[in-house]
Amino acid sequence: MTETTKQTAIELINIHKDYTIESARVEALRGVSLKIPEAAVVALTGKSGAGKSTLLHIIGTLDRPTSGTVLIGGSDVSLMDDKELSRFRNRAVGFIFQMNNLLPEFTALENVMMPCIISGLPKSAVHQRATELLSSVGLGQRLHHKPGELSGGEQQRVAIARSMVMNPTLIVADEPTGNLDRKTSLIIQDLLLDLVRAHRMTMLMVTHDMELAKRLPSQIMMEDGLVAMDGVLH
Ligand SMILES: Nc1ncnc2c1ncn2[C@@H]1O[C@H](COP(=O)(O)OP(=O)(O)OP(=O)(O)O)[C@@H](O)[C@H]1O
Ligand SMILES: [Mg+2]
Repeated sequence: MTETTKQTAIELINIHKDYTIESARVEALRGVSLKIPEAAVVALTGKSGAGKSTLLHIIGTLDRPTSGTVLIGGSDVSLMDDKELSRFRNRAVGFIFQMNNLLPEFTALENVMMPCIISGLPKSAVHQRATELLSSVGLGQRLHHKPGELSGGEQQRVAIARSMVMNPTLIVADEPTGNLDRKTSLIIQDLLLDLVRAHRMTMLMVTHDMELAKRLPSQIMMEDGLVAMDGVLH
């Protein structure tokens, strides 16, 4: 078997993130440096308040660090203005949150198509891909249901399909199965892991579930705004 050198998908150099509220300063991140190779699947663990979501938002370019450098696929995202950044985010990053953030007035199919429509792709071009993705998460028979007409697990499947519709290179997931019962949670986790592997996406997943974290190939543990354990396989 030949060894191939993996490219670095994400590189963080000395990331700090401060929040100031009514003159009180919170140092949410206190100097985080990390390298994550492409196609890595990483669990991000740590106590409540450790800085996991803050880090995930910065990696997903939803938020900017107070200082430090974020390189995604080799691009320094701090050099992009807000417009370039939202375009980049739309194309390169898929998001899955605990609260699935589906739009309640739209159907499952429309929700999945939404990132493509935002990017300006014609509906006709994305209809088939969105339908296929919903079928691949087992919702081929629920295309026209609105979120309120779906179970929690089904809603999270829609969110998974939506996160992948633009074929991003990176998926960031913040406790994606945190609201689901154990059995549904395991089914959704397997589904997500299978899709991520099949498409060779890089994924960072925040979880409080240590059993799930151990099922992922790599783990990072955060403590008090710092990386306490970097177990990313390179
Ligand atoms: N928008 C904000 N304004 C002010 N402080 C914030 C903000 N977001 C997060 N923080 C603070 O930053 C710290 C890290 O928060 P973060 O949400 O990253 O934690 P977390 O590890 O995701 O925790 P949890 O497991 O509870 O979701 C916390 O002390 C939090 O109170
Ligand atoms: Mg969080």
